[in-house]
Amino acid sequence: MIEEIESLNRELQALHIQTAEELENFRLRFLSKKGQLGLLLDRFRELDGEAKRTVGKPLNTLKAEAEKIFRASRDAFEQSGGTVTQFDTTLPVRATELGAPHPLKVVEDRLCDIFYSLGFDIAHGPEIEDDRHNFNALNFAEDHPARDMQDTFFTSGHVLRTHTSSVQIREMESRTPPMRLVMPGRVYRNEAVSARSNCFFHQIEGLYIDEGVTFADLKQTLYYFVQQFFGEGTKVRFRASYFPFTEPSAEMDIWAGTDTEENRRLTKGTGWLEVLGCGMVHPNVLKNCGIDSEKFSGFAFGLGIDRITMLKYGISDIRDLFLNDVRMLKQFRGS
Ligand code: DAH
Repeated sequence: MIEEIESLNRELQALHIQTAEELENFRLRFLSKKGQLGLLLDRFRELDGEAKRTVGKPLNTLKAEAEKIFRASRDAFEQSGGTVTQFDTTLPVRATELGAPHPLKVVEDRLCDIFYSLGFDIAHGPEIEDDRHNFNALNFAEDHPARDMQDTFFTSGHVLRTHTSSVQIREMESRTPPMRLVMPGRVYRNEAVSARSNCFFHQIEGLYIDEGVTFADLKQTLYYFVQQFFGEGTKVRFRASYFPFTEPSAEMDIWAGTDTEENRRLTKGTGWLEVLGCGMVHPNVLKNCGIDSEKFSGFAFGLGIDRITMLKYGISDIRDLFLNDVRMLKQFRGS
């Protein structure tokens, strides 16, 4: 009998009464005369004195415990207005609003991934810059038009960086070659806002400095990037250009074709789309950062993230990227 009492006690402890029906079943099993406990009590009455003494105490405890549990559960039910407190797992839920990565971020991440796979690390620099990092160390002449109030936002003694090339300078100052970096970030220009240009936009800068780096390395790296990003077989051309911080300098175009009205419009009828500026880092720039320009050479490139995001997703107004319109952003979920 002791064993039966113990097993019933264990059962009692493990029970969680959650519904009115369970409460009633509990009462029938443990508290009614014909229930399991009632029957034990009947048998108890038949026992002789010695056995009564051993079984009495645990049996009484069990009975008291059962009554306590019953009362507590019943009170809880009454307090909750007799409602069922069971957790209803079938209730429909209000769907959580899921966010989506911003298309610019999607493209920036993809670009970083491609260069990362070639061994480029990722670095960031400040958006509020000094003249030295944004212009001077990059070999801009004192009277260069980019320094003009018309093009650049000035704050007290500083500028809002007009390009991510400033991060090149910071990295070359603080590291020793070899270094291979991509540097994404936001840049600012004092321009009239229109469908094609905004007063801030995004660039990704690339830099590779080592012994014996050549223009061939630059081209090969950019070819790889284009195949990865725009697709195998995308045609590329380089045009000579000028930037104060590279010599020689070039711009790279990709072939978009003239087959569609859209492509003719985007390429102004030429079929070629300009995607980036690049070149061999000017020896003056290396010297400005304390790098031995006799021993080391390097290449750099910079491309506009907004522009290629617009191309990739067919967005025709740059301002759409900054509306923070969830309906627009949602389209990029899972990109
Ligand atoms: N900083 C240039 C711009 O904003 C882009 C650029 C051109 C970056 C050539 C470079 C480069 O690193 O080599 O227009």
